[in-house]
Amino acid sequence: MTRPVRALIDLVALQHNFNRVSDFSPHSKIMAVIKAGGYGHGILRIARVLDAADGFAVASIEEGLLLRNVGINKPVFLLTGFHHGDELNELHKYNLTPVIHSHEQLSRLARWKKTTDAKKELNIWCKLDTGMHRVGFDPDEITIIQNQINDIENVNLAGIMSHLANADHPNDDNGQDSKTDEQILLFTQSVKSLSLEKSLANSAGIVAWQKSHFDWVRPGIMLYGSSPVLDKKAADLGLLPVMTLESEIISIKKMKKHDAIGYGGDWTCPEDMSVAVVAIGYGDGYPRSAATGTPVAINGKRTQVLGRVSMDMITVDLRGFEHARIGDRVELWGQNIPVDEIAAFCNTISYELMCQVTSRVPRISNRDAG
Ligand SMILES: Cc1ncc(COP(=O)(O)O)c(C=O)c1O
Repeated sequence: MTRPVRALIDLVALQHNFNRVSDFSPHSKIMAVIKAGGYGHGILRIARVLDAADGFAVASIEEGLLLRNVGINKPVFLLTGFHHGDELNELHKYNLTPVIHSHEQLSRLARWKKTTDAKKELNIWCKLDTGMHRVGFDPDEITIIQNQINDIENVNLAGIMSHLANADHPNDDNGQDSKTDEQILLFTQSVKSLSLEKSLANSAGIVAWQKSHFDWVRPGIMLYGSSPVLDKKAADLGLLPVMTLESEIISIKKMKKHDAIGYGGDWTCPEDMSVAVVAIGYGDGYPRSAATGTPVAINGKRTQVLGRVSMDMITVDLRGFEHARIGDRVELWGQNIPVDEIAAFCNTISYELMCQVTSRVPRISNRDAG
């Protein structure tokens, strides 16, 4: 008998969220962002369902090869390009498209000695830094860069992208251009004379910044059913949760007033009461920062975490749950409790919560279940 923790992956909800991306950006191609193991949901499971996507974005050659090895032959973009020159032959062989962002990558491309298929070119994209100030070429340099790439035999510059830094913030409506307006304007001006494919919008751009849509949109978090913007809930955007993290009650304890619960005894019972021990902890990726008060749902009804999260267990409040039993289902986030709500309790973002669900938690999709 294994531990009862599992992450249920609702592929019907995923498909629904993908359709919402199309509703928001009907004129753009969709590059589904499935890096970090499909934001913790399982990269292949996600890619197989999204067969309407025009391409996929990943973070490493290993993720790209996983897709190719199961016969997925759509465009696959490596969002931070390549890290070592010896990746180039594999990228070329498997038609993976690196998005390059540095002069170092450019000179490695210029030094690249192709070993396979003399006729085929390596398609690349470039990333511009329009305000994120993380990676990307200076927009002023784009013509020089384009000329340098044109001079490299076997390499074809096919597209150009940039990344929005503040698109989750709504426009402040004070008549001044927001940082996102400035990024959109700079990108638009920098690329307008280039006959290349263009891409700027992440999920927040897709739902809140129509002018950022260009030829390709790059949804990540909204595919998984979490809200990409601060002023709207996922449900307001018509997004459905894809991951439900759940476990079961493994013990029920009757406590006396003043009994202290768990490590450090931070929380003491204000009255005689029952508490449930649930098999989930930070060893499963449930955040240790989920303090007393963080919501959980027993059989769909809300209650709260009490005391500290341990590696394999948490303790929850059973006041009002006289009929609770060992084996009852406990949801940590998903259908009843939006992951965004837990993220707010834990002072983090849903991306981190979903990505950090550990490998000991089986992912079970409705397709696996038949
Ligand atoms: C370059 C790039 N584009 C798009 C995305 C998707 O962003 P989101 O998950 O906010 O939609 C990411 C995610 O980190 C990214 O790095």
